[in-house]
Amino acid sequence: MEKYIINGGNKLYGSVKIQSSKNSVLPILAATVLTDGKVKILNVPHISDVKNMVKILSCLGCKAVYDGDNIIIDSSSADCFEIPSALAHELRSSVFLLGSVISRFRYAKIAYPGGCDIGLRPVDLHLTGLKRLGVQITEKNGYILCKCDKLRGNEIMLDCPSVGATENIMLAAVKAEGTTIIKNAAREPEIEDLQNFLNRIGAKVSGAGSGTIRIDGVNKLEGCEYLPIPDRIEAGTFLIGAAMCGGEITAEGAYPENISSLIHKLTENGCKIHINNDKIVLENHKRLASVKSIETQPYPGFPTDLQAQFTALCCICEGHSIVTENLFETRFKYVPELRKMGADITVIDRNAFVRGVEKFKGATVVANDLRGGAALVLAGLAADGRSEVMGISHIDRGYGSFEYKLRNLGADIVRVTV
Ligand code: EPZ
Repeated sequence: MEKYIINGGNKLYGSVKIQSSKNSVLPILAATVLTDGKVKILNVPHISDVKNMVKILSCLGCKAVYDGDNIIIDSSSADCFEIPSALAHELRSSVFLLGSVISRFRYAKIAYPGGCDIGLRPVDLHLTGLKRLGVQITEKNGYILCKCDKLRGNEIMLDCPSVGATENIMLAAVKAEGTTIIKNAAREPEIEDLQNFLNRIGAKVSGAGSGTIRIDGVNKLEGCEYLPIPDRIEAGTFLIGAAMCGGEITAEGAYPENISSLIHKLTENGCKIHINNDKIVLENHKRLASVKSIETQPYPGFPTDLQAQFTALCCICEGHSIVTENLFETRFKYVPELRKMGADITVIDRNAFVRGVEKFKGATVVANDLRGGAALVLAGLAADGRSEVMGISHIDRGYGSFEYKLRNLGADIVRVTV
């Protein structure tokens, strides 16, 4: 067990290099099962979700290894279609493997996926989409069993623009016979990144980023070397941290257009933000004004993955805010921990009602999920006094070298073994 010890109150100054997007790297790793060509993915963060995905690929018979900050995958020797339940439970993105494993083996067996405990997180849209492509699916004893003689392209209308379901169907359709059209597809930048990766290995995918994606089935795929897009949620987390602590930081290698909803809100709060190509500079030296309301929405709306971090910022702004979480049923589990730090915040259903206080007070708090844990760290950095954040294995799932990057910006944070 490890925890962070934080002495709050330092302003943040300097530059932070943004990692490749966790939520791009994970579906791209799943996609490597589709091809016998060698794939090299660049600038990959050393985070446990990626490490677990690499373990799953190895269980399928793929050769997958970290090479510094890159990962090299050779799936030519893949020979297993069953994803081990212990690993499947570790992360949500194990479910993305259904599409590529079925495409390769015509069979797939996986336990229900894990991931952050932020809601019910059903997989019905994944399974309905795969059935439309000709997959027969049985759900038994906590496993999803799939088989199909031949994957055939079809038109699929998603009830909601699910990121994972969009990606799973894309992967299953790449080598299907004929054309697949996905309507009401998710528009996140990571979907477009997956499309670009798939086309780089020889697939024919178009329309990602719009609500309609077209996949024309192909027979042969190759290998490639690929640099995924920067992690917009990591970039947003650091920018919010600087807004809370004060100072001036540069998020390097970030794509501002991918977090324009956050940039708009931080500007509304009173932050000075300067954009220069792939650098986002945020400067703040005062107590910020609250934004009256924030509603999480599918992209390009305000990202649910920045909801917790932004709510922590609202807690120390001047005035009241209402934060509405529209995507997940229970994504406010970090709120009782913020209240231990002096936050004045009440949650009713999907709304958090915040009354800004001057400062957080240092306290011992427990992370329950990845982004809620990051929010608690930011609160500790901005707080008066000493904080301890327990349960940081949740944070390690999505932030590589988190405390090193924060220390490089002037934060007083150390990781200790309990
Ligand atoms: C992806 O999760 C991300 N994870 C999440 O990031 C992110 O919060 C989420 O998309 C929304 O942007 C990865 O990419 C690995 P969804 P996913 O399917 O695919 C409902 C993080 O912190 N739904 O878009 O699981 C679902 O209940 C993580 O990095 C169904 O009803 O999200 C939710 O209300 C957390 N049936 C909504 O759709 C389904 O079959 C959005 O979920 C699938 C989803």
